[in-house]
Amino acid sequence: MQRRVVFTPSGLDGVVEDGVTVLEAARQLGADIDSVCGGRGICGRCQITPSTGVFAKWGVTVTESSLSSFAETETNYRAKRALVAGNRLGCAARICGDVVIDVPAISQVHKQIVRKDLDLEPITVDPSFSLYYLTIPEAQLGDSVSAADALANAVAVQHRVRAPQVARRALSTLHSAMAKADGEVTVAVRHTENLDQIVAAWPGFVDAAYGIAVDVGSTTVAGHLCELLTG
Ligand code: FES
Repeated sequence: MQRRVVFTPSGLDGVVEDGVTVLEAARQLGADIDSVCGGRGICGRCQITPSTGVFAKWGVTVTESSLSSFAETETNYRAKRALVAGNRLGCAARICGDVVIDVPAISQVHKQIVRKDLDLEPITVDPSFSLYYLTIPEAQLGDSVSAADALANAVAVQHRVRAPQVARRALSTLHSAMAKADGEVTVAVRHTENLDQIVAAWPGFVDAAYGIAVDVGSTTVAGHLCELLTG
């Protein structure tokens, strides 16, 4: 009988014969599970985390009995060295049903590693964004001012700054924020030399905004998450 096997986080899946070990299945399907001892239950490098439940994404249902029960090699290994709670040894656990197997980073040969530390000199924060908390008067029948103009006016009047424009892509967040807000919204304004623009809006009071810069290189991906107001 054949069994469906899904490995995460790689997303590799396929079918294997009933009774093979998870490590054998990984080798057949090309999934990345480490093994130093060659499946003798000594090294512990093949630890995997089985999942149970219904996985609609892959169309599989996994039960506790989809893997063989704890083997003697695992008991012996656990008596001498640490086996993470909930983990099994991939070289000992045998596949008896459809399974979804997570391969934790400690068991991946090709796990991702951070090669470079971030080495920042002290910097002077000069944020290009500001958050403005606003109280918006209730609209009256016959008002000819649009929601966008009402927000822009409120920024200028309540915070004594140059009236911003409203970026077109912000209109959807702006309308939904105002609908939920009960008269109180926070807007994010981006400043450039010639222009201030409302780029986002949230209902109520918000005091933090985050941005992420991503550098996609040929061999390295670098990301830097930044609190926009404080740096
Ligand atoms: S491969 Fe060494 S313990 Fe499983």
